[in-house]
Amino acid sequence: MLWKKIKRILASASLVLLAAQSFASNDDIDSKVDSLLEKMTLAEKIGQMNQYNGFWDATGPAPEEGFAKLKYDHLRSGLVGSVLNVSGYERVRELQEVAVNETRLGIPLIFGLDVIHGHKTIFPIPLAESASWDMDAIERSARVGAVESAAQGINWTFAPMVDISEDARWGRVAEGAGEDPYLGAHIGVARIKGFQGEDLAAVDTIAACAKHFAGYGFAEGGRDYNRVDVSPYTLHNTILPPFKAAAEAGVKTFMNSFNTLNGIPATGSAFLQREILKGKWGFEGFVVSDWASIRELIAHSYAEDDKQAAEIAVKAGSDMDMEGYAYINHLEQLVKEGKVDEALINDAARRVLRVKFELGLFEDPYRYSNQEREQEWLNHKTHMAAARDVAKRSIVLLKNESSLLPLSKKQKNIAVIGPLANDKNSPLGTWRVSADDNTAISLVEGLKQYNENFQYEQGVKFSVGKETFADQIEVNETDRTGFEEAKQLAQSSDVVIMMLGEHGFQSGEGRSRTKIDLPGLQQELLEEIYAVNKNIILLVSSGRPLDLSWAHKHIPTIVQTWQLGTQSGNAIADVLFGEYNPSGKLPMSFPRSVGQLPTTYRLFSTGRGTPKPVVFWSHYIDEESDALYPFGHGLSYTTFEYSKLKVKALGENRVQVKVNVKNTGKSAGEEVVQLYIRDRFASTVRPVKELKGFEKISLASGKSKTVTFMLTEKELGFYNAKGEFLVEKGAFDVMVGGGSVGGETAQFEL
Ligand code: GLC
Repeated sequence: MLWKKIKRILASASLVLLAAQSFASNDDIDSKVDSLLEKMTLAEKIGQMNQYNGFWDATGPAPEEGFAKLKYDHLRSGLVGSVLNVSGYERVRELQEVAVNETRLGIPLIFGLDVIHGHKTIFPIPLAESASWDMDAIERSARVGAVESAAQGINWTFAPMVDISEDARWGRVAEGAGEDPYLGAHIGVARIKGFQGEDLAAVDTIAACAKHFAGYGFAEGGRDYNRVDVSPYTLHNTILPPFKAAAEAGVKTFMNSFNTLNGIPATGSAFLQREILKGKWGFEGFVVSDWASIRELIAHSYAEDDKQAAEIAVKAGSDMDMEGYAYINHLEQLVKEGKVDEALINDAARRVLRVKFELGLFEDPYRYSNQEREQEWLNHKTHMAAARDVAKRSIVLLKNESSLLPLSKKQKNIAVIGPLANDKNSPLGTWRVSADDNTAISLVEGLKQYNENFQYEQGVKFSVGKETFADQIEVNETDRTGFEEAKQLAQSSDVVIMMLGEHGFQSGEGRSRTKIDLPGLQQELLEEIYAVNKNIILLVSSGRPLDLSWAHKHIPTIVQTWQLGTQSGNAIADVLFGEYNPSGKLPMSFPRSVGQLPTTYRLFSTGRGTPKPVVFWSHYIDEESDALYPFGHGLSYTTFEYSKLKVKALGENRVQVKVNVKNTGKSAGEEVVQLYIRDRFASTVRPVKELKGFEKISLASGKSKTVTFMLTEKELGFYNAKGEFLVEKGAFDVMVGGGSVGGETAQFEL
């Protein structure tokens, strides 16, 4: 007993010591920042607010020629605080040596890069990873991205993107966590933990960046750089929660967004950046603009010139100007003219310097560029294993009304058809700035490890012309060369695996679509193959939900394989041959038609939500209103049964929910148990269901488990139009199941 007591005292003492140390280190950093600021000229402080794109690769509209020399001159004069799109031992070291050795104060640069879903080892696109609902897997993915990019000199990633979106026309849904703020918040936090780890000064952790603040996923028509008009209700209940969770999780930076929000460009929004982020939420990191978004205040007709743009943005709380040249060209003059208070410059510079201290860059500016680590960790075999594991968990079995899956390793006479089945590039997805082209394992390559009894036919050429990060893909709409060979192969085969969908560069930034069908001649090919062989396993590879209505009506087996990264073909083969029982669940609704967009499962009962004998109720005359495949949907090779749902109000706005889940099929499998609530009557109408809990469990055949959830104010409350968080007494419904449709239901009174 005495020993236990001693152990408890020792444990609490070490915690106090640790807290004191960490407290001292924060205190210590603040005093270091203050003493450095005192030495800095106004120009040097503004330099910390200035970020240039590297002199090589651009992820936005590249500046006119001749800027490289200007940038170097500014670098030598201590007028550059950060560089993006520069990585690798040589390049990072070259620029860091200039900053440290040739400038007056030797303040190191912070190197930023879009490590969105991996660095050299590419993981599934974030929307795919979100389908795993597996926070450990998602954290592991970000961890690998941090290890590899930090080995190449990167200290800061522009991720996680936590924009909620209900509009599959928007190309950047590929980069996010789908349509639900509760799931999106959990996923954003998992990614931040993976990037930042426990110690930001460690050589394999990097600062993360919650972006794009805020509302980007609700852009008009799903088009980038556009207008966003949402109610305060949607802003506070759907858009902001993942950002608030990121700030609470200690994310070190935010990036603002290109869009206007209710008439004010986010980059110039003091409401967003000062009142909410830095005020209400107490955020102490720094806000970087998106690429030239400060200068783009002019294009938004919000600033008359880039001097006014600089004034608006710095007053609004944008701390760093990414490749915009507005701050470096105008802030000093604005301060001298008394239009901008130098205190704002000091605050912005302080925020940037604090992160650099926390990264350990002052202690050792070269800690992140290390040739040995660069050689050891890029594409490391453990990273490949992790990429394969996360990829297989991201696959969603949408339909399986046949005995086609899982395929036998002895299955003979397999046809593999489709342009994406042999594509080693598209699986790398949209944001893979550091990956080498054509390094993904294709489906054709992946299948071979389990079964070589197949023949491959492309069926149709996907595109004509260039396929690059910044160019528009030109889809083949006319050339049917390959159709005949594919039809003959299908005719003589027992089973057909078709891999169709989008090219890796048909989603992501600047790639909104008005149609969400299979691009080009793929739908025609699918129908022609179906005409000669109905035993089709359709693998859909895309960066967004597609309209799979025809396929759903005709094709017995449909698998959503997204864009799964470097290990794509291996992960898909693991699932097709039953090495891994698919466990993914949709993080975003798959609509029946693009005409339904924007859409979400979080619908409202409306004034006439139920069908009537006359037309006067809320519906379409030409299509169902619900999703083809709803949020949270995903099948398994086994089946799960839910029972014994028990709900117990514990008082003080706490409610315990228990449910029994049984694996009633023949194989072991994983299930994402999802809990939804409905606040029946409230001072603001509430959705008919909202995700407020989930747990991914693993069950052997025949085994059961009781899953317990605890609902607290955090889950039961909501924001009103004033942004006040309310928990209101009254009746609630609870729904628990393997998706957002169906499941066990119960009620409770709060
Ligand atoms: C891009 C993107 C942003 C990215 C930045 C740097 O325009 O909007 O998400 O991090 O520029 O590449």
